[in-house]
Amino acid sequence: MDVVTVAFYDTKPYDREYFSRAAEQAGAELHFHEFRLAASNASSAAGARVVCVFVNDRLDRECLQVLADGGVKLIALRCAGFNNVDLAAAKELGLGVVRVPAYSPHAVAEHAVALLMTLNRKIHRAFNRVRELNFSLGGLVGFDLHGRTVGIVGTGKIGRAAAQIFRGFGCDVCAYDPYPSEEWASDFGVRYVTLDELLGASEVVSLHLPLTPETFHLIGPESIARMKPGAYLVNTSRGKLVDSAAVIAALKSGQLGGVALDVYEEEEGVFFEDHSGAALQDDVLSRLLTFPNVLITSHQAFLTEEALSAIAGITLDSISRFARGEEAVKERTLA
Ligand code: NAI
Repeated sequence: MDVVTVAFYDTKPYDREYFSRAAEQAGAELHFHEFRLAASNASSAAGARVVCVFVNDRLDRECLQVLADGGVKLIALRCAGFNNVDLAAAKELGLGVVRVPAYSPHAVAEHAVALLMTLNRKIHRAFNRVRELNFSLGGLVGFDLHGRTVGIVGTGKIGRAAAQIFRGFGCDVCAYDPYPSEEWASDFGVRYVTLDELLGASEVVSLHLPLTPETFHLIGPESIARMKPGAYLVNTSRGKLVDSAAVIAALKSGQLGGVALDVYEEEEGVFFEDHSGAALQDDVLSRLLTFPNVLITSHQAFLTEEALSAIAGITLDSISRFARGEEAVKERTLA
């Protein structure tokens, strides 16, 4: 089998560690770039037959054209979401596109719950207080999750894992999905309802659906107005599902009681990087960071040992199948 050359973009030390470990077996030669892939720098892939990208690389038509002209044949996404790739253009240009449809749904679901628990029980505030020898409890009142209604929007792999955790806490879990899994719901005591019913009934709304043109700003002024006053919103899916300006207005009015985000609509170029020495240029993100009842992590829900191993293993398996001229695994194939 020929050694296949793979150009990696937006890589961090943990990508290099987990992929290098698995690469030899896959017969792949890996070239790691730290910068994000875009049309302006896509010529850097010349000589590679495969490019491996992450959530914030921008594979628009122009970028894909440069890749195809340079001899690239396969785009391997080392993530589940694929809203950053122009699939129609990839198809036209004869580029294959594969992704990792599932690595560890538990990693993301557990992070969603961790964010909610931290926010609700004010752990983020207590941590800082105690380190300053302030042992007072003022302002740290949370609520029992037991008995509360949690609304899960999107019951795919991650939404189901999250729903099951909340059932374990003794929550009443309702869910909305245009393609409901009735058998799963009845096995775990989850009720499917309409999106409007979910928004009106839930004390916590957690988003686990993909970003598509239809789901862009699913949570905006109108849907927030339909939520229970003081409800908590958790988004570990994609930033553009949520209208950040509407969230800020709702936090100011108290319509939202707390917001936990692992993703942000303008995260590209900000998340995954250390900006601690410079002024933050994004005024919306800056404002969000001023609220005591907002908790933001930098798209880290996937970052567990299990998920990183699975991502590297599945991606390199797809690449070596491609190198051997085999068909890609169907559920991993986008184009
Ligand atoms: P999945 O494909 O298994 O499930 C998605 C579910 O959303 C499906 O059941 C689908 O029917 C449903 N859905 C589609 N449109 C909907 C709508 N308008 N309203 C409600 N439900 C709708 O995907 P999975 O693996 O559960 O991932 C969910 C999302 O989590 C991904 O799309 C991705 O954006 C995000 N994600 C975030 C990560 C992170 O590190 N923060 C890591 C991995 C995924």
